[in-house]
Amino acid sequence: MKRLNGKSALITGAARGIGRGFAEAYIKEGATVAIGDINHEAAEQTAAEIGGGAYAVHMDVTEQASIDEAISRVVAQAGKLDILINNAALFDAAETVDITREGFERLYAVNVAGTLFTMQAAAKQMIAQGHGGKIINMASQAGRRGESLVLVYCSTKAAVISMTQSAGLNLIQHGINVNAIAPGVVDGTHWEHVDAMFAKLEGKPIGQKKAEVAASVPAGRFAVPGDLTGMAIFLASPESDYILSQTYNVDGGQWMS
Ligand SMILES: NC(=O)c1ccc[n+]([C@@H]2O[C@H](COP(=O)([O-])OP(=O)(O)OC[C@H]3O[C@@H](n4cnc5c(N)ncnc54)[C@H](O)[C@@H]3O)[C@@H](O)[C@H]2O)c1
Repeated sequence: MKRLNGKSALITGAARGIGRGFAEAYIKEGATVAIGDINHEAAEQTAAEIGGGAYAVHMDVTEQASIDEAISRVVAQAGKLDILINNAALFDAAETVDITREGFERLYAVNVAGTLFTMQAAAKQMIAQGHGGKIINMASQAGRRGESLVLVYCSTKAAVISMTQSAGLNLIQHGINVNAIAPGVVDGTHWEHVDAMFAKLEGKPIGQKKAEVAASVPAGRFAVPGDLTGMAIFLASPESDYILSQTYNVDGGQWMS
């Protein structure tokens, strides 16, 4: 029995990485999935590779008009929107004294305002449809505590955890469940980028930071996107109807709360 049969999902930042993994898993569970990404060419390629009910939707989560247009495209294509995964995000690392206003605003525009206003637009659509919905925000173990070189990113993910709590409390009156997933370290392009940044900041050879981090994970390895899909399916299914405002750690034992 497919658990998301007939459901219409929008996943932001799904052209690659974790979001792509979610899209593949949702398609297997019977959903149609809009691959919403600022990199439209990559989104189109991903949608073609996944096949089934996957389709690309151009979307920049920092632009309100682009968010609204993406939701309209989903409704035009699938007739409705049942599930949103707010997955698009940017990462940065710097000494505290080197953080720039531009860098701060760039990350907040995507990770915080992008998450909030995509959540809001999806909620408006779900309320108009009148049969509830599921919203899943991507937090991180980085939102659970600070990191010496990662002040801005960590604070954006703490904001995602907090917004999930408040929005969950507010939107349950409409039958909309808002929850979040906090991964630990997930292999992919994102981590190649993180490793290169730390190599520069900490004077380490390429690959060393990744190896150190992998050794520190209680489960003994980085996650792959498939390690997160079970939680993403559960939080989109009726099995989670009584759950709201929670952030679930799927991190190989890195954080306990
Ligand atoms: N990879 C990890 O180790 C890890 C750990 C914890 C949390 N996370 C979180 O999981 C989510 C996915 O991470 P990932 O590693 O797959 O990221 P990624 O960098 O591989 O992919 C992010 C995607 O978002 C898209 N994007 C960027 N800006 C956008 C915008 N303005 N509008 C629309 N799309 C935009 C990019 O084009 C890209 O396809 C993020 O929220 C990230 O913070 C990742």
